[in-house]
Amino acid sequence: MNRRTIVAANWKMNGDLALVEKMSASLNQVQLDDNVDVVVCPSFPYLSAMANKLTHKNILLGAQNVSEQISGAFTGEISMTMLKEFSVNYVIVGHSERRNLYKESSVLIARKVKTVLNAGLTPILCIGESAEERTAEHTEVVLAAQLQPVIDEIGIEKFSEIVIAYEPVWAIGTGKTASPEMAQATHHFIRQFLASNNAEIAHKVPLLYGGSVNAGNCETLFAQTDIDGGLLGGASLKVEEFTQICSTTKGSI
Ligand code: PGA
Repeated sequence: MNRRTIVAANWKMNGDLALVEKMSASLNQVQLDDNVDVVVCPSFPYLSAMANKLTHKNILLGAQNVSEQISGAFTGEISMTMLKEFSVNYVIVGHSERRNLYKESSVLIARKVKTVLNAGLTPILCIGESAEERTAEHTEVVLAAQLQPVIDEIGIEKFSEIVIAYEPVWAIGTGKTASPEMAQATHHFIRQFLASNNAEIAHKVPLLYGGSVNAGNCETLFAQTDIDGGLLGGASLKVEEFTQICSTTKGSI
C-alpha cells in the first residue's frame, strides 16, 4: 500500500475572511494528482467559513491546536467535540511554536495526540530540532525524545492513524530550507526509529517536511523517498503559490 501525499497549510495567526474566500475559491478549482490530499488549517474563528466553502473531496480541513481536555472549566481552550462540529479532519499537534512559545511538553503533546485519535480524527504531530541541537549533532536524540512519549501514550500500532511533520525549527519562517538530502536523511531516521518498534506501521506513516517550503523547492523535497508532502506556513497564505504547489504535487504511484 502506498502512502498518501499530503500538502498541509498552516496559516498560524494569519489570514482573514477575505483570504478564506479567495483560497477556497482557488482550491475548489484545483486538479489534484491521484493520492494527494490537501489540508487547510486556518485559525479557529475561520473553520466554519472554510468548512462551508470547500467543495473539493480531497481538500480537507484542519485545526492548528486542540485541548487535551474533553470539556469543562478550561477558559480559552477548544475541545475535540467542538472541532468535529466543523467538519475538521486533521489537527496539528505540537508545532514548535506551541512547544517553544507556549511551553507545551512532549508529554502534554502526546496526550493531545491521544485526544485527537480518540475523537476519530488525524493528528499531524510536529517534531523538529533547533539550530543549536543540529549543530551539536543532537538531532536524532531530540527527535527520539519527542516521539517516545507519544509511543508510550498511544502505542506504536496507533501510528498507522497519524501523520508526522518533521520541521527543523531553524527552517521555519526563515527562508532556510533543509537541503533535500538533509531532509531525506532525517526522515529516514524517523522512519527507522518507528520501524525499530514496528516495521509494518513505520512504512504506513506519512512523513511531511516543513520549514520554508515554497513553489521553487517543493518538487525536489517531496520527491525524496521518505518525504510524503509538506506542512507549509508562509507559502500557504499566498493563493496563487499555494494553489500551484497543490496542483504540481505528485502522489506516489
Ligand atoms: P514556514 O512555516 O513554511 O513559514 O517556514 C512552516 C510551519 O511552521 O509549519
